[in-house]
Amino acid sequence: MSVVKQSWAEPFKIKSVEPLTMSTREERERVLRLAGYNTFLVPSKHVYIDLLTDSGTSAMSDSMWAAMMLGDEAYAGSRNFEHLVNAVRKYYGFRHVVPTHQGRGAEHLLSRSLIKPGDTVPGNMYFTTTRLHQELAGGAFADVIIAEAHDPHSTHPFKGNVDLQRLDDLIRSVGADRVPYVSIAGTVNMAGGQPFSMENLRQVRSLTSKYGIPIYLDATRLLENAYFIQRQEEGYSNWTVAEIVREICALADGCTMSGKKDSLVNIGGFLATNDKRLYEEACNLVIVYEGLHTYGGLAGRDLEAMARGIAESMSDDHIRARIGQVEYLGETLLKRKIPVVVPIGGHAVFLNARSFYDHLPQDAFPAQTLAANLYLQSGIRAMERGIVSAGRNAETGDHNRPALELTRLTLPRRVYTQAHMDVTAEAVGETYAERRKTTGLKITFEPKYLRFFRARFRPR
Ligand SMILES: Cc1ncc(COP(=O)(O)O)c(C=O)c1O
Repeated sequence: MSVVKQSWAEPFKIKSVEPLTMSTREERERVLRLAGYNTFLVPSKHVYIDLLTDSGTSAMSDSMWAAMMLGDEAYAGSRNFEHLVNAVRKYYGFRHVVPTHQGRGAEHLLSRSLIKPGDTVPGNMYFTTTRLHQELAGGAFADVIIAEAHDPHSTHPFKGNVDLQRLDDLIRSVGADRVPYVSIAGTVNMAGGQPFSMENLRQVRSLTSKYGIPIYLDATRLLENAYFIQRQEEGYSNWTVAEIVREICALADGCTMSGKKDSLVNIGGFLATNDKRLYEEACNLVIVYEGLHTYGGLAGRDLEAMARGIAESMSDDHIRARIGQVEYLGETLLKRKIPVVVPIGGHAVFLNARSFYDHLPQDAFPAQTLAANLYLQSGIRAMERGIVSAGRNAETGDHNRPALELTRLTLPRRVYTQAHMDVTAEAVGETYAERRKTTGLKITFEPKYLRFFRARFRPR
């Protein structure tokens, strides 16, 4: 089918449905209190429209479900592993593939294999699990994203770009031998699902080549990044997204992948690399932490579904409808004058909680408060992406205070309809109308790692 069309529609029809649960405000008040005002702790049976995450929540196709019956559940060397390796080689172009149970499994293998204590890993903004694995391996993350990425109002089309001067200065100051790799995410989740441009990646490649430093992609939403390049970067409008993904990967040395996003599966991930030595070390570690290097913590059926999901995802019509739906929600909210991060990102609409609750200080957790209040209002579940997600400074123990204080409405792929988007926009509008009544939250329990998943709060 052609790449450019006037309007989009889902390139599928619905064969199986799952009923949604409606609840009363009184029920939601009780559930939220029991959940410590953290939407991660709300049981899904009490959720109406679940926009917590696009991770592992997508609808698989009939072909992917059929693949579940083709699982070759041999302990070693299953056929499904071969199919996965072939799919990764064909669509991403990397030679060696180590399956993992999900993205953070691959991050663990990469970090443990390449980072030595005292190293610095530059990246285009942190991601929670990526940074934690870098730190647990003894490294420190250094943000080298362009300044526009921290500004929710900047309409820069490629807010995921690296600031080349900052990267160069950093490499010179710590020394190239203390930079094991540069980590480039496409799209950048914490910046609002924002893409990098091909031109910028090419420049990063030529800079890092000068110093002999490899590039590892976080390819979790690389397809979404490729779509933005196709639509917004000069010279790519006649390329398919699959061709753009291959071109991006040709500029890198490997990637970590959460198949639970772009690849449309409910579980799965991989580490892919062209570096034989890294592959050998990752094979050593995967056997200790995940499972044999030909299954990496997954059943054969999961490997097969991921191989098919990768192939299915590389379709222009699919990605256009997927991002079209996100943009529809974003534009509907903008029409209602709700403060959202612009440009609208690939996988989610990010509400700007600082503007939404401009009377609350960041220490009152505005984005966490907004997620809680939206749930209370409507049963719609969103996620905090602000001071809670940013965690604490390992040395001072104080909160990290990110410039962006966001509440994420994340769209699972192929799950909800346009009417659900309208209902969501109405609910956000009603929550906005009541914003002045809000006093914010206080933290009452904080786990050691990745606190946003299990922290508990109470009203201030
Ligand atoms: C950009 C990015 N990288 C890595 C991960 C980690 O993947 P997983 O949740 O599969 O461990 C995620 C998951 O949310 C992500 O959004």
